[in-house]
Amino acid sequence: MTRPELRLILLGFFLISASSAPVKKIFTGKETRKTQDVNIYSFYINSTVTSRYATTIITSRVANRLNESQEIFFEVKIPKNAFISKFRMTIDGKSYDGVVKEKADAQQQYSQAVSRGQSAGLIKSVGRTLEEFKTSVNVAALSKVTFELTYEELLTRRLGKYELLINAQPMQTVADFKIDVHIHEKPGISFLEVKGGLSTNDLANAIKTTRADSDAWVTFYPTREQQTKCKDCDKNGLKGDLLISYDVERQNPNGEMKVSNGYFVHNFAPLDLPRIPKNVVFIIDRSGSMHGKKIEQTRLALLKILSDLSEDDHFGLITFDSRVDLWKRELLKATKTNLDDAKSFVKKITDRGSTDINAAVLEGVNMFKRQPQAGSASILILLTDGDPTSGETNTERIMSNVRKAIGSKFPLYCLGFGYDVNFDFLTKMSLENNGVARRIYEDSDADLQLQGFYDEVAVPLLTDIQLNYKGVSNLTQTNFALYFNGSEIVVSGQITDNNVESISTEVIAISKGSKVTYQNTVTTKDVIDVPSEHEDFVERLWAYLTVKQLLDKHVLLEGPEKEAVKNEALKLSLKYQFVTSLTSMVVTKPQEGDVEVADKPKEGKESHRPPVSSYPPLPPRIGYGLSAGSGFPGRIGQYGPPPYPGHQGRPGLPGQPGHPGYHGILRRPDWSSGSAGVIMSQLDSESEADLGISYVMKTPIMAPTHVTRKLVAPTQSVPAVRNNRFLLPADGQTKPLCFDVPIPHKLKLLQDSALGFSMNGESMAKTGFQQITIHYKTNHHLTINTNSINYNDGQNNVQYLWGQEPSQHDQEGIILILRDNEMDVTIGSIRVVIVLHKKRGDVFLWPVVWQQPENVTLAGILGKDKISYEEIQGSTLKIMDNDVKASWDEMPDYRFPSAPVVRCWLVPFQAVMNGEISDFTVTHL
Ligand SMILES: *[C@@H]1O[C@H](CO)[C@@H](O)[C@H](O)[C@H]1NC(C)=O
Ligand SMILES: *[C@@H]1O[C@H](CO)[C@@H](O)[C@H](O)[C@H]1NC(C)=O
Ligand SMILES: *[C@@H]1O[C@H](CO)[C@@H](O)[C@H](O)[C@H]1NC(C)=O
Repeated sequence: MTRPELRLILLGFFLISASSAPVKKIFTGKETRKTQDVNIYSFYINSTVTSRYATTIITSRVANRLNESQEIFFEVKIPKNAFISKFRMTIDGKSYDGVVKEKADAQQQYSQAVSRGQSAGLIKSVGRTLEEFKTSVNVAALSKVTFELTYEELLTRRLGKYELLINAQPMQTVADFKIDVHIHEKPGISFLEVKGGLSTNDLANAIKTTRADSDAWVTFYPTREQQTKCKDCDKNGLKGDLLISYDVERQNPNGEMKVSNGYFVHNFAPLDLPRIPKNVVFIIDRSGSMHGKKIEQTRLALLKILSDLSEDDHFGLITFDSRVDLWKRELLKATKTNLDDAKSFVKKITDRGSTDINAAVLEGVNMFKRQPQAGSASILILLTDGDPTSGETNTERIMSNVRKAIGSKFPLYCLGFGYDVNFDFLTKMSLENNGVARRIYEDSDADLQLQGFYDEVAVPLLTDIQLNYKGVSNLTQTNFALYFNGSEIVVSGQITDNNVESISTEVIAISKGSKVTYQNTVTTKDVIDVPSEHEDFVERLWAYLTVKQLLDKHVLLEGPEKEAVKNEALKLSLKYQFVTSLTSMVVTKPQEGDVEVADKPKEGKESHRPPVSSYPPLPPRIGYGLSAGSGFPGRIGQYGPPPYPGHQGRPGLPGQPGHPGYHGILRRPDWSSGSAGVIMSQLDSESEADLGISYVMKTPIMAPTHVTRKLVAPTQSVPAVRNNRFLLPADGQTKPLCFDVPIPHKLKLLQDSALGFSMNGESMAKTGFQQITIHYKTNHHLTINTNSINYNDGQNNVQYLWGQEPSQHDQEGIILILRDNEMDVTIGSIRVVIVLHKKRGDVFLWPVVWQQPENVTLAGILGKDKISYEEIQGSTLKIMDNDVKASWDEMPDYRFPSAPVVRCWLVPFQAVMNGEISDFTVTHL
């Protein structure tokens, strides 16, 4: 199911085989890896999120350092919820692009390759959240290869936030490692938090965050040394997550509309609504298989959930094995006495007989029927860990009984506990009843997963939600049974008439027994806010959401309807080059006829063994959540107008079957089983007979349509300064400070006498620096100007030009990484990045201190690590015991190549620098 939103997970990771066999080897496993023979000299993860749609590009450049050819592997982990949309390998200046094809076509090509004994690549499901993409290529002696993988995902709002998870595990330290994240949300970002194992201790200062109103940038540049220092890191480099959580401002209760290139997306998540009392019945499996930890964790979770019920909620408890027991025949109000009573019942739940799911669910439905509650929201939650083994055991008949009994009146959520559960059955049954199925992983945090699930449905705000639009077509789901606090409804569609000047939205729903209507008309001009190079993102978001919802429907339908839905989903997957359960990506490699096929694994069919993990359980929030494949947590689809032509209203529900929650359980891959067999069995299990007759796709296969995404340029005007304005990153919660230094000047930027390091810069007439020099000991000199970088070691001079492919140079304790527009130098515990800015004809340098000895103030303008201050009143700040008048101003944050405009407290130079400007000037660079 959907992986949570905000979590993009990726895991960069390489297995390197270094046996000397010059030709192809089938996955040799990591035991033969010798990192010195394979050098990942640069590894970038670049994620751009616009209106919750995340596009991530992983670029890895690898050198074969052997003097003979060898197989080089590319292995990354991506969120289950994402679709891969592009893969490219570049060797010797020649590119090899993966092509997305219908599964059957791809399989044919693949089978031919396999019959010739060639290797194959694949995607496989790992743990709760991730899929692993792996491929390899034979690289000639002393040559290089660049791998580039793009994937796309709509982040789902859950419990009041979106989460983007980036998980890195490159299996070796990488000289030039960076993660760049840019989030653009037009209404404004209300909070942003960076957490995860990679943001702790030594690595925390490798992360830089900057925020403007609608944008946030997070960059992570760990040095080689830092890469060995995070919580679970070792000499093999990074191993852990970067988890970025955020939410957006919601000033407009009508929601947020975005229009671009003939498509729109509407995000609806009103805040100021009273909670609707709910009726909730928990149907708990206590069959023998729940024995031990599972039943303990269930009891624990139930006790906590009961404590969280509100007094106006009504609840019921049913336990079942072959017999069904009701705690009370009626739903009872969640008063203290009733809850205490229920808790002692829960404490006595023990495991026993077999599993009669049919009787238990029907009993739950009856409880609601005996006692209809107007103005409330009813929710049925089934928790089971096994197949039906008692009473009615035919799953088709159980589904039919349950469907008839519920009659679309309320949702049924199914929680499948552990690995033996028939998850396909639960998925189908919940989709048929407007709910979602969620997998509860058998792990030490199972009780937290259960509670987390409950938290998502704990506060219903609206029921019977219908969204209407004029002048649009091909809408995604527009009917939802419930809207829960902390979630979001997302609808996307195509605008029929490109010349329309406005779009009207109408949302009709029931809030606590009374009808509410939200009406809005937006001028399309006002909602276009997408830079041109990015203008297809709404269309891709629409395609993503549509495909996810069609794939869910596909699970439920039969006969010609099923076929029609499949065709539509396939057509879109091919058009947008998404690797979905209906398509495969075929990668043709330089060696004649060598083909690999990447398929989206089907979680439900995986052989589930508890993932072996060296990771401690993540905190509760992270792990689970209603899966709402398509952008809508816990929303429950209602019968309604068919969102797609040619197929009648069926519950269109998010929640992609078989893709349960999250939780970064990462497993080191075990490829020892030999890949070919694994793939074939996966293909077999996927090409289910019920996918129907094969047919020929007439749609031409398009080249990958992914366009290179650019950081969005700040829209605010850059203040015209005759100064260089420097930003002093504040500690944590406070606002940043900034100060001006008049130009031109030759400035002492950073000096560490103990290390023998100094950096000086000469400012330009307008802004920034025209030349920066770095001196180390007496003989090393780096001179950087806007054309080139010169390194002199006292005897020889080497010159590098800007704008080249990334490269890395180690010389006598100086590590120099050159990127297109950045020079990154590490000397001892100091790391400085010089950014080359090119803005409207201006070209200048900007120095950024990425790392310096901790808790030490070095000399120079950039020498202050942090500064703390207090806001006393109005615009007076207390800085180092002095009251300082400040003004709330703005400046471009040149630490980031995109130079976003940020706000800061502008204070006089002297207030923060303890000195006059003349104390910071030099006569010679
Ligand atoms: C590779 O290098 C080794 C040692 O440097 C040398 O003995 C061998 O001949 C070289 N092989 C090739 C193919 O050049
Ligand atoms: C919904 O969630 C928000 C943020 O967590 C909270 O402030 C608000 O009180 C909640 N609304 C209700 C009705 O509980
Ligand atoms: C991230 O990718 C976008 C689109 O390819 C590009 O414009 C941007 O410069 C990249 N950012 C970084 C920091 O590499």
